[in-house]
Amino acid sequence: MILRELVSLPSFAGDVEEGLLKRPKSLPCKLFYDRAGSALFEEITDLPEYYLTRTELAILHDHADQIAAAAAPGVAVVELGSGTAAKTCTLLQALSRRQLRVPYFPVDISPAALADARERVELQCSGVSVRPVVADFSHGFAFLRDVPGRKLVLYLGSSIGNFDPEDAVPMLGQICAELRPGDALLLGTDLAKDPAVLLPAYDDAQGVTEKFNKNILRRINRELGADFDLDFFRHVALWNAKQSRMEIYLESSRPQTVTLGLLSLRVKFANGERIHTENSYKYTLSMVRNMLEPAGFALDRTWFDERKWFALHLARV
Ligand code: SAH
Ligand code: AVI
Repeated sequence: MILRELVSLPSFAGDVEEGLLKRPKSLPCKLFYDRAGSALFEEITDLPEYYLTRTELAILHDHADQIAAAAAPGVAVVELGSGTAAKTCTLLQALSRRQLRVPYFPVDISPAALADARERVELQCSGVSVRPVVADFSHGFAFLRDVPGRKLVLYLGSSIGNFDPEDAVPMLGQICAELRPGDALLLGTDLAKDPAVLLPAYDDAQGVTEKFNKNILRRINRELGADFDLDFFRHVALWNAKQSRMEIYLESSRPQTVTLGLLSLRVKFANGERIHTENSYKYTLSMVRNMLEPAGFALDRTWFDERKWFALHLARV
């Protein structure tokens, strides 16, 4: 584990330096997910305001058998950004009723989340063999080549929504290029809805999302010897109707200069200046088609929950 932290340091440091030197300042949301960040995300999924996880889980519960039947016989399951795989067992169990053995490859940038995913699936899903893969999608999807046979790729939780369409399409294109006819992608997308529902989902009453957002500064302090004072940064969540996305920021509440010791970098903040930390797109069906089709996928089926707040799409190569 220590070795991995050392190995990941240059890219973490590079991403932080690049983001803080940009105007406006930004940090890539993949940096949220150290051990503490993965645990805070897990807490978010239980919040009353964060409807996404329980809504997607309800769709999976209601349609797991149909989804399993739509996948090719004998598939291996590859889950991108699996986190702790809290929702996946429903589907893995449905698949293991249809095939003797279900190879399951959870893929994530967070080793801590993957360790939990392995433990959970091994405990809850008999007939499933778990092979975790630590990977950063920014470096491509070559790991898909190591998975033999037919594949069902899961990308749940509306994690695709954390990428702008101009990045999401090429990324889906890279995934598609690693797949063969008969393989499929099950993509979870949050749907556009009343901002009165969206805003509290990203700014909850207990302040867990605020902690999750600020954890990125805590991580920079620890890993890069920085001195961000978390009390002088505010969590800001905004609905951008034009782009159909939630945006979250860390906003400096005074003029201040932060030192990043390991980078020999000093970064100035004006009062009210923001660091953009995440976008979370909220889709219509045509937005989903406009992502999948140019990437080479054909949209085959979509399942919704009763309120049509979330959707699961089966796309074929
Ligand atoms: N699929 C789960 C977890 C979603 S949280 C769910 O639906 O609840 C997003 C997950 O993607 C986190 O576990 C995070 O560690 C992972 N992730 C974020 N950026 C990544 C990247 N660039 N490469 C690989 N994994 C990434
Ligand atoms: C992982 N991802 C889809 C979450 C989202 O809703 O965009 C991350 C998150 N950010 C704030 N709350 C949850």
